[in-house]
Amino acid sequence: MQDILTGCDGWTAAGAVKCGGKSQLREALRLAVFAWLLSICEWVGVCAEDVKSTWSGGTAKISHQLKVSTMATFQLLFPLLVSCVAASAHPPRHLPPCQVVQMDVFCNDLSLRSAPVNLPHGVQMLDLSRNQVQNLTQETLAYHTGFHHLNLHSNKIHFIQPGLFKDMTDLKVLDLSKNHLNVFALSKINIGPLTAVESLDLSSNGLYTGMSDYFLADSPSLANLSLGSNSITKIAQDTFRGSQSLTKISLHNNVILEIEDGAFESLNRLSELDLSKNSITCITDFNLRNLKIFNLSKNSLELFQSTRSKDPHKLISLDLSENKMHYFPLLPINNKLEYLDVSRNQLQSINVTGNPENRTNVYFYELRYLDMSYNQLKSIPESFFYCMGFLEVLNVSNNCISSFSITNPRLLQTVKIINLSYNSLQTLTFGENTLQALEELFLQGNDLTTLDYQMFQRLPNIRHLHLQQNNLEICTSDQNHQNPPDCVSFSSITNLQFLILSENNLRTLPANVFANTPLKLLDLSQNPGLDMDKDSLSGLEHSLVHLLLRENNISSLNTDLLSLKSLRHIDLSTNQLTALPMWNKEFSIESLNLQHNNLVTLEYNTMIALEHSLKTLYMGSNPLSCCSNLGFLHMVQHSTVVVPDIETVTCIHEEYSEPVNIEKVTQEMCHRPRIQNYIIAVVLTALLMIIVLGLLVKCCHSRKRKHHRSFSA
Ligand SMILES: *[C@@H]1O[C@H](CO)[C@@H](O)[C@H](O)[C@H]1NC(C)=O
Ligand SMILES: *[C@@H]1O[C@H](CO)[C@@H](O)[C@H](O)[C@H]1NC(C)=O
Ligand SMILES: *[C@@H]1O[C@H](CO)[C@@H](O)[C@H](O)[C@H]1NC(C)=O
Ligand SMILES: *[C@@H]1O[C@H](CO)[C@@H](O)[C@H](O)[C@H]1NC(C)=O
Ligand SMILES: *[C@@H]1O[C@H](CO)[C@@H](O)[C@H](O)[C@H]1NC(C)=O
Ligand SMILES: *[C@@H]1O[C@H](CO)[C@@H](O)[C@H](O)[C@H]1NC(C)=O
Repeated sequence: MQDILTGCDGWTAAGAVKCGGKSQLREALRLAVFAWLLSICEWVGVCAEDVKSTWSGGTAKISHQLKVSTMATFQLLFPLLVSCVAASAHPPRHLPPCQVVQMDVFCNDLSLRSAPVNLPHGVQMLDLSRNQVQNLTQETLAYHTGFHHLNLHSNKIHFIQPGLFKDMTDLKVLDLSKNHLNVFALSKINIGPLTAVESLDLSSNGLYTGMSDYFLADSPSLANLSLGSNSITKIAQDTFRGSQSLTKISLHNNVILEIEDGAFESLNRLSELDLSKNSITCITDFNLRNLKIFNLSKNSLELFQSTRSKDPHKLISLDLSENKMHYFPLLPINNKLEYLDVSRNQLQSINVTGNPENRTNVYFYELRYLDMSYNQLKSIPESFFYCMGFLEVLNVSNNCISSFSITNPRLLQTVKIINLSYNSLQTLTFGENTLQALEELFLQGNDLTTLDYQMFQRLPNIRHLHLQQNNLEICTSDQNHQNPPDCVSFSSITNLQFLILSENNLRTLPANVFANTPLKLLDLSQNPGLDMDKDSLSGLEHSLVHLLLRENNISSLNTDLLSLKSLRHIDLSTNQLTALPMWNKEFSIESLNLQHNNLVTLEYNTMIALEHSLKTLYMGSNPLSCCSNLGFLHMVQHSTVVVPDIETVTCIHEEYSEPVNIEKVTQEMCHRPRIQNYIIAVVLTALLMIIVLGLLVKCCHSRKRKHHRSFSA
C-alpha cells in the first residue's frame, strides 16, 4: 500500500490524519480579511480595538462606528473573497509529495527544511534524507517522538537541540551521516541521552578527534556505530566509555594514527571493527578476544602482532591487505581464523619476523581462505601448510615464486582453488594423491615449459585449468610413450571442463588430444600459426560449447567443427579467413565472431543454415564486397540476428571510394541499369540509325540510278 502524501489528499487513504489543507486555507482567509478590515478601519478612522475584539470573538456583531463604512468595506472585500474562493479550488501551497507506506514516510530529495507538519500519527520511520534540514529540533520533526527509525542522511544539520532524543524511547536507528556535525561539536554541547538508539551513523560529518564524544557520551543501547569518512586521528581510551554495548564499529576512511591502550578492550561485546583506510603503522599485543571481524586494509601497517597468550580468540576474518608488512602477521595462538587476507603487502617470505628461527608455530585449524597475492614471495615451503588442515582457497598470484611443490598427500587435502598466476614458475610438482579436492588451478603468466606429462590426470576433481601465457607443448598420443616426454597430456582428465591454452606458442594440435576430457570451453587463442589437425577436437562432440581461436593467423579452417554437436559459441576473430567452411543446418551456433578477417563473400547457403540458431554475429573489419553479399545483407537487415559491431561492418562498392556501411546498402545499388547500360543502349540505337540511314541512302541511290536508267532508256 503506497500513497502520495500531499497537502490535501492522501492522508485519508493513508488512514492517518484528516485533510488539513482546507482548514489551513480557511485560517489564512480569515487572517487576510482581518488584516484588510484593520487597514480599512484605520483609513476610516475607527477604533481598531473594537473591530479586533469583534472579529476574533467570532460573532457577527459589528459595532456602531463601523456601520457607516459597511457598504464600502463590502465592496472592497468582495473581489478578495472571490479570489480566495477561486484559490481554494487549487490549494496554493502544496506540501511536498512524501510517500507513505504504512507507517513509513519517505520525504527524501524534496529540498525540505523540516518534516511536513501533518505527519501521520504513529509514524515509525521518517526518511528526510537529501534535504535542507539545518537545525534538528522538535519543530523540525513536527513534534513527533514515536519514531523507530530516522534517516537524516545528507542534510545540512549543524545544530541538534540538546535532549531531543531523550523522549524518543522507540528510536532504534538514527542516520545523521553526511551533515555538518563538526560545527555542532564545536559548541561542545552533548546531544543528551540516546536512550534507545541501537544503530547510529555519524559518517561524513567532518568530525575530528574528540568530537564523537558529544554524541556517544550517553548511548547505553548503541550497538552499531559508524564514524566512517571523518577526520579522526586518534582513538582515546575513553572514546567509547558511554557506549558500552557496541558490537560493531566502523572507522573506515579516517586518518587514525594512534589507538590508545584500552580504547576497545572494555567493549566486551565488540565483534566487528573496521579500521580500513587509515594511517595505522603498527599493531602490537593484539588481544581483542571477542572480536570476530577485523579490517585493517589500506593502512600503513608494518607489523601485526598478537599477545602470546593462549586464551581463545574468536577472530574469524582478518583483512590486512594493502599495507606495508614485510613479515607474516603473528596471530593469536588459539584462533578460529577462517579468512586471512595479506595481499598487496611487501612479504618476502612467510616468516613471522626477520629472524628465521622465529617461524610461525601458529595453527590455523579453521582457515579456509588465504590470500597472499601481490607480494614478493620467492618461495613457499611445503611445511607452511602443515597447520592449515581445512584450507579451501589459496591465492599466491603475483609474487616471484619460481618453484612450487606439494608432495605430501596429507597437505592441502581440502583445497579447491589454487591461484599461482603471474609468478615466475618454472617447476610445479604435485605428488601422487595430493590435492584430491582441487577444482580450479590458475597458472597463467608463468614460465612453464614442461610439466609432468600426466600431472592433471592425477587431479580427480580438476574442472578449471588456466594455462595461458606459458610455453607448454601438448603431447600427441605416441609421445606419451617417450620417457620422460617434454609435453603435457590433456586427454582423459575426467572432470576438466574449462581449459585455457592461449598464448603458449603452440605450433601443432595433433589429433585426439582431448579424448575423454569433457571440455566445455577451450581457448586456443593467440597461438599464431597453430596447425590444427582435422581431428584435433574429436572426443569433444558432446561437450564443447565454447571454442576460441582468436589471433591464430588461420587462413582456412580445416578442423571438423560440424561434428561438435554442442558447440554454440565460436570466436574466429583476427585471423586470415577468406571463406567460411560449409556449415549446414545441424550446426546450431548462437554466437559467431568473424571480426578482422579477410572475408570477401559469405556463402549464402551457409548463412541461411546458420540463421536459424544464430543470435549474435560480429563481422566488423572485413573487406566484404557489397554486391556479392546481398543475401547476407538481407539477413542482417531482416532477421533477428544481432550484429553488435554493425557500425564497423562495411563493404566495398566499386562506385564508392570509401567502404560503405552495410546498413546503407540497398538492392538497387547493385542492379545497374545505369551508365553502362545506357551507353550500350545509346551506341546500339546509334548503330541502328546508321544502318537504317545507310539503307535509305542506298535505296535512294539505286532508285535514282533506276530513274536515270529508265530516263536514258
Ligand atoms: C537554527 O538555530 C540557531 C540557533 O538556535 C538560529 O540562530 C538559527 O537562526 C536557526 N536557523 C534556522 C534556519 O532555523
Ligand atoms: C549498521 O549501520 C550501518 C550504517 O547505518 C548499516 O548499513 C548496517 O546495516 C547496520 N548493521 C546492523 C547489523 O545493524
Ligand atoms: C575491508 O575494507 C576494505 C576497504 O573498505 C574493503 O574493500 C574490504 O572488502 C573489507 N574487507 C572485508 C573482508 O570485508
Ligand atoms: C585471490 O583469489 C581469490 C579466489 O580466487 C579471489 O577471490 C581474490 O579476489 C584474489 N585476490 C586478488 C587480490 O585478486
Ligand atoms: C587469480 O589471480 C589473478 C591475479 O591476481 C586474478 O586476476 C584472478 O581473478 C584470480 N583468480 C581467481 C579465480 O580469483
Ligand atoms: C600468417 O600467415 C601468413 C600466410 O598466411 C604468413 O605469411 C605470416 O608470416 C603468418 N604470420 C604469423 C605471425 O605467423
